[in-house]
Amino acid sequence: MTDVAYAPRATVAQALLELRSISVRFGGVHALKDVSFDLAPGEVVGVIGPNGAGKTTLFDVISGVRPPTDGSISFAGRDVTGAGAVKRSRMGMRRTFQRSQPFGWLSVEDNILVALEAQGRGRFLADLVGLKGRQDAVRREHVAQILDRFGLTATKDVAAGRLPIGTIRMVELARAVIGQPSLLLLDEPTSGLDHTEAEILARAIADVREQDNCTVLLVEHDVPFVMATCDRVVALNLGSVLASGTPTEVRANPAVRDAYFG
Ligand SMILES: Nc1ncnc2c1ncn2[C@@H]1O[C@H](COP(=O)(O)OP(=O)(O)O)[C@@H](O)[C@H]1O
Ligand SMILES: [Mg+2]
Repeated sequence: MTDVAYAPRATVAQALLELRSISVRFGGVHALKDVSFDLAPGEVVGVIGPNGAGKTTLFDVISGVRPPTDGSISFAGRDVTGAGAVKRSRMGMRRTFQRSQPFGWLSVEDNILVALEAQGRGRFLADLVGLKGRQDAVRREHVAQILDRFGLTATKDVAAGRLPIGTIRMVELARAVIGQPSLLLLDEPTSGLDHTEAEILARAIADVREQDNCTVLLVEHDVPFVMATCDRVVALNLGSVLASGTPTEVRANPAVRDAYFG
């Protein structure tokens, strides 16, 4: 007799995010059909799927922008199915958008400082009790670390709007990461990046997971990037989970082979 039955793997570590039978319908279009999966703390998971597979809809549902037609979501042990994006953000979710832009007239460094200020952690009180100088030094140090992680130190004084798209995407990532999220949702993070930038991004994702124990869910067209960066892959097709597992398992799945590598 083994004790495996008493300690099934799924109950050892509580999932950070649990999706249960999520469906989304737009009139006659079934954008997501009965999608269920979990994210464990510290995992990096990639969602792949052709255009129209439901990837963006899935991100909208997870981040609280769109309520599911059916199903439930829990985050950090709480049912958030009816909670909006602001509440989920306060609970530690951050999302990057494929098209969003930073403040173009601000320097890279100031863009990141603004994101940090937006959290307003203890700032008002610190100002009142005269700790402002020390708080500023701590903030600048924090920003310097983030700039370094995302390869942005050399461009920190440049207005973000004057930078190439690849660097702008790194600024957006840095702005999300400085919020110290427990779950980071990245929508097509490699789009617009050149090879070197994609490598910096891959290292930054590994770093965010290791240093901050942050869970990362990314949606990507770049299947080789997903296979190289993620612990697990979820393949969507026409709103349903076609396959999920390690990159090796998903790559070997016959349905996925037909859809992607056939
Ligand atoms: N706001 C919407 N209204 C109607 N149909 C939508 C809407 N958003 C997405 N869809 C449809 O839902 C399906 C999934 O879309 P989407 O989530 O954008 O897929 P992906 O991001 O994988 O390309 C598609 O058939 C798309 O046309
Ligand atoms: Mg999309």
